Amino acid sequence: MPGLIPQDIIDRILDANDIAEIISGYIPLKRAGRNFKALCPFHHEKTPSFTVSPDRQIYHCFGCGAGGNVFSFLMKYERMEFPEAVEMLAKKVGISIPKTEPADKNAGIAEKLFSINELASKFYHDILFNSKEAGSVRAYLEKRGISSETAKKFRLGFAPDKWDALINYLRQKNFSLSLIDKTGLISSREDSSGYYDRFRDRIIFPIFDIKDRIVGFGARVTNDTLPKYINSPETPIYVKGKNLFGLNFTKDEIRKHDSVVVVEGYLDFIIPYQAGIHNIVASLGTALTIEQIRIIKRYTQNAIILFDPDLAGELATLRSLDLFLSLDMNVRLVSLPKGFDPDSFVRDKGADKLKELIEDAVDLFDYKLDLLKEKYDIIKAQGKAKIAEEMLATISKIKNEVLKESYLKKLSEILSVKEDALLKELSKVKDGISYIDYDSFSSLASKPLNIRVVEKMVVKLMLEHDDLIRQVKEKLDISDFQDPHIKKIVCSMLELNSQGRKIEASRLMNHFDDQAVAQTLTHLCLSEECREIDKQKAFDDCINRIKQENIKEKRNQLHGEIKIAESQGNKDRLNQLMKEYNCLIKK
Ligand code: CTP
Ligand code: MN
Repeated sequence: MPGLIPQDIIDRILDANDIAEIISGYIPLKRAGRNFKALCPFHHEKTPSFTVSPDRQIYHCFGCGAGGNVFSFLMKYERMEFPEAVEMLAKKVGISIPKTEPADKNAGIAEKLFSINELASKFYHDILFNSKEAGSVRAYLEKRGISSETAKKFRLGFAPDKWDALINYLRQKNFSLSLIDKTGLISSREDSSGYYDRFRDRIIFPIFDIKDRIVGFGARVTNDTLPKYINSPETPIYVKGKNLFGLNFTKDEIRKHDSVVVVEGYLDFIIPYQAGIHNIVASLGTALTIEQIRIIKRYTQNAIILFDPDLAGELATLRSLDLFLSLDMNVRLVSLPKGFDPDSFVRDKGADKLKELIEDAVDLFDYKLDLLKEKYDIIKAQGKAKIAEEMLATISKIKNEVLKESYLKKLSEILSVKEDALLKELSKVKDGISYIDYDSFSSLASKPLNIRVVEKMVVKLMLEHDDLIRQVKEKLDISDFQDPHIKKIVCSMLELNSQGRKIEASRLMNHFDDQAVAQTLTHLCLSEECREIDKQKAFDDCINRIKQENIKEKRNQLHGEIKIAESQGNKDRLNQLMKEYNCLIKK
């Protein structure tokens, strides 16, 4: 969560606030030993698994996995942005946040890029509405049912059919070419003899961020030329998959309706919006990312997906929707009649008909099941197994245990398979172990432990003893770790340590963009203490285990490659591989 607020101020604010005090302002906390317990405010439960640690200044829910420091609690509970949460807590303890020019170089650049985009957007908008040459474009928009108020609201524009119209305009305003280049509005010629306008003879759709700033553009031809759309490349201010088209216009309505309609295209957003469907966002043609879903979740738990009819028939597309479940959201789907997208459907049948379809949207579970029943023979054992496998992958993502059980029951009835059998299969789907098994840890040498557990153990020990951080630096490489979350955590710990900074879980948390990483960390911190008395010995055991495991893996990999080289009769490669293999064995 990098921001403009200096890190040391953030740390001070964190130190000056007490997480238990803040959280108890929202939910009743009960003492339980060193910690506090409560019913989790983020999922439905009957016995408290929400834990707050005043020592560590973090919280973690062992039921739903939510976790973080006091900032992340406020962000989640109050649906605040990070800077908002920091500001609120700063006020509370009377720390003032300096309003200096951004020390961060990129932040300075970001402001400039926003202002160039703003100017470019005005330039394109003006041409669309006031130039003669755009007359046919205005007619095209009218033909597509876009009113001029709508075109103004979404600040549509037109890029003229010239190679240097925008460049010349922006150069007049004294922006350097290298800066303009950073917006993605221009491209450099292959022989690097100069730049030209990226968007030519196209309708322009500005893409806004949540604060109404223009981060990039989409551009559509007005005829059948291909590609139909081109979009801004990724820039310092535009990271694809991290924002949703239209959300700045619709976030309040989404919260009010407590549901969001997710569509794919620019016009699939604009036309229904114009017709009065205001709780809507567009993904812009890509599969939704976990970041986008997290953003949505700040406004509602209920999503209705309106995909292209062909796409909604694809298992791969449906699988991507499991992400919603893993974030504890409800997903329903609408399949439009063949040949329609939300834009053409509204234009042809009207918004009320679309609203009816949205009302009747089908739960992801049922939708997927119907699709699978068409694909596989539910009577035959093979078919049942296939359907079970696909459905269990989805069910395994459901966080709420009651919901999960009722789906399992339903699946068991539909397949006429015992629930026990499904449960067994379900346990295979789960990745790794979610709780650390400290009892088996003390007998590490004798019992094989899941590698992830050993890696987690190392991090837990590193958090308890600064000296072990130094030892990890000496004895292991980041690439020795396999778990991606652990890698990120260790990386940040090593970095902070080398800057001579104090390492505390609650501070460490601010360094991860991905909430899931923070949650792995809070889980680790608040899961049971390691029983091993000799921490150094425990640590050495872990390090050895990680090394051994990696060697074993490398050995297996070499083994496979040797087999291939043998079967291909590739003698040189075989010799080389054998050498590597022998080297490894010696280790
Ligand atoms: N898209 C894109 N680049 C393309 C094609 C599509 O970025 N070459 C994105 C656009 O955001 C587009 C969305 O994917 O809006 C859906 O594509 P498609 O269904 O092909 O276009 P429509 O949105 O239906 O556009 P239109 O109705 O104008 O034909
Ligand atoms: Mn369309």
